[in-house]
Amino acid sequence: MSAPIVRNLADLRAAILPWRDAGARIGVVPTMGALHDGHLSLARAAKRVCDRVIVTIFVNPRQFSTPEDVARYPRTEQADAARLARHGVDAIYVPDVDQIYPDGFATTVTVSGLTEVMDGIHRPGHFAGVTTVVAKLLAQTSATDAFFGEKDFQQLQVVRRMVRDLDMPVTIHGCPTIREIDGLAMSSRNLLLSDRARTIAPALVEQMEQMAAAIVSGRPAEEAQRAAIAALKQAGFTDVDYIEMRANDDLSLLTTPSRPARLFAAAWLAGVRLIDNIAVER
Ligand code: PAF
Repeated sequence: MSAPIVRNLADLRAAILPWRDAGARIGVVPTMGALHDGHLSLARAAKRVCDRVIVTIFVNPRQFSTPEDVARYPRTEQADAARLARHGVDAIYVPDVDQIYPDGFATTVTVSGLTEVMDGIHRPGHFAGVTTVVAKLLAQTSATDAFFGEKDFQQLQVVRRMVRDLDMPVTIHGCPTIREIDGLAMSSRNLLLSDRARTIAPALVEQMEQMAAAIVSGRPAEEAQRAAIAALKQAGFTDVDYIEMRANDDLSLLTTPSRPARLFAAAWLAGVRLIDNIAVER
C-alpha cells in the first residue's frame, strides 16, 4: 500500500502525534529522492528497528554550489512513491521549500574539523547545508533513529558529530554502500551519466581497490595515489578532486593504515561528480 505523501509541517505533526503518544520508535530516512536500491536498503534497515518509518524527499538547495546543479538534480517523485509502496513506510515527507526555509530563516548548523577536508574543501558550504537541513528534518519528524548510507561516509561522520555535540536524542545508523553489479556505488547522480560514461564509471572503485591493495602490500601511499590518478585519467575521468586514505573516526589523512581506515575518492566523469569510499582491510 502507498504511504501518504505529506507536504507540510502541520500535516506531518498531525500524523506523528499519535505515534509519539504511543511511545513509538520513529525511524527517518532523509533523501533527496531519485530513490535507488541504496535508499531502499535504508528504509528496510529502518523498518527492522523502528515502529514507524518516514522517508523524507527534499532537494535541499543549501547544499548545492550553484542553482544549475540544484535544477539538474534528478526528480522522480512518482516513481519514488511507487518504489516505497513495497517497503511499508508510514509516511513520505516531501516538504515544500517554505516548510524548511520559511521567510526570515536565519539559522545555520555547522560542524568544524570533519568538514574541513575532502568535500568540505571541494564543495564550500555543502556540509553546512547538509547539517542545517538534517537538524531541521530530525526535529520536524521527531526522529528517534535516522539512517544514512556509508556511500557518503564523510556526511555520516559529520551528522554523527552534530547529533553528539548537540545532544540530539537520535540514534544515527550507518548502512553499507549498495553497489551495481559492476561495482559502481549506487547514487542518484548516476542517472546523469551518459551510456558511455556509465561504462567508464566503475573504474573509480576499481582504482580505489587497487590503490588500497597496493598500500596494504607496502607501496608508499603517494606513489599508489599517483598511479590511481593516472589510471583514472586514462580511463576518461577529467579531474580527480581527491583519492586518499583517511582514518574512519576523525577523517585525518593517513599514509599507512595504522588505524581503521578508508580510501575516499571524488572524481569528475563527463561533467558528473562521482564519490565513493571503501574500507582499507589491513
Ligand atoms: O545524502 C543526501 O541525500 C542528503 O545529503 C541528505 C542527507 C538527504 C540531506 O539533504
